[in-house]
Amino acid sequence: MTFGIDDLPVRDELRGKSPYGAPQLDVPVRLNTNENPYPLPEPLVERITERVREAARDLNRYPDRDAVELRTQLAKYLTDTSGHEVGLANVWAANGSNEVIQQLLQTFGGPGRTAIGFEPSYSMHALIARGTGTGWISGPRNADFSIDVGTAAQAIAWHRPDVVFITTPNNPTGNAVPPGTVLALYEAAQAAKPSMVVVDEAYIEFSHGDSLLPLLEGRPNLVISRTMSKAFGAAGLRLGYLAAHPAVVDAVQLVRLPYHLSAVTQATALAALEHTDTLLKYVEQLKAERDRLVSELRAIGFEVVESDANFVQFGVFEDSHTAWQKILDQGVLVRDNGIPGWLRVSAGTPRENDAFLDAVRELKKEQST
Ligand SMILES: Cc1ncc(COP(=O)(O)O)c(C=O)c1O
Repeated sequence: MTFGIDDLPVRDELRGKSPYGAPQLDVPVRLNTNENPYPLPEPLVERITERVREAARDLNRYPDRDAVELRTQLAKYLTDTSGHEVGLANVWAANGSNEVIQQLLQTFGGPGRTAIGFEPSYSMHALIARGTGTGWISGPRNADFSIDVGTAAQAIAWHRPDVVFITTPNNPTGNAVPPGTVLALYEAAQAAKPSMVVVDEAYIEFSHGDSLLPLLEGRPNLVISRTMSKAFGAAGLRLGYLAAHPAVVDAVQLVRLPYHLSAVTQATALAALEHTDTLLKYVEQLKAERDRLVSELRAIGFEVVESDANFVQFGVFEDSHTAWQKILDQGVLVRDNGIPGWLRVSAGTPRENDAFLDAVRELKKEQST
């Protein structure tokens, strides 16, 4: 018998649990983690190198703890793309939006408190809740993966959670939550507690609709969470951020580790923000490819959930895990999120998407013979 986790005095709620883990397999076409398939353009790589070289000269010092220049540029990006005025005081940044969410739960959740999400949704919300000792409540969704306002508001009124997560566009299903639903759930959450409402907009740049940033006006308990991992094609950078009332930005600083954002991270993110226009052109290409995936999958005979993200959920399979394996056998890695009957594919380059479509055509043929 080897010494393992269970032999250690770990917290009871961690016993028997598995860590988050999308398979990182070495296959020709990887469409399983909603990354942007386009490498950063060479002029941006050059600019990152310049900025990081400058930062390297000061690495004997701690970085700007408040990341003022970076937060200023993120605020400008949000203002320019939403038309809603966002300032430095409204923005906070961390190592990926996962860390933003962790800081929010450390601040507003924690032992003796609860958070609710409407599932299936982004599995890390529940995992980060667990890691921060926050009780997790799985809220309902309709069979078509939309949120029923009445049922969801009832769940909020009943459980009176401290934090409400709304992911729009939702991962893994891809559909957006209408602004009216978000507003109704915000009202329900205020009537019930009041609680914080975190709108996770990790994929908003790919949406047919607009960001919900304007809803921040007059709603101090609303937080919009964003990331540079998807639209900016910078998942390896680890840079997420939030926009909210300045009091929320002050509050998360009570739990953030000092100097949490390295000088190298800040320099790299600033370089990427200088190239926003080029990076957003890739987003347009990906949206077109996403729409092509939706229509071709339907033409092949699959059911597809309407997508506002850079991925598409498709089915319905009798056994989605076997279907996942058969697609993998053809060199294409998609994601089995454990939703019975459904698989998810991220929009890749046109060539990668063609390889995926060929693989699922084969699968369909096999299934119908
Ligand atoms: C809905 C949602 N929120 C947040 C994240 C985390 O992104 P980040 O890379 O910024 O930590 C993801 C990543 O897949 C996501 O799907």
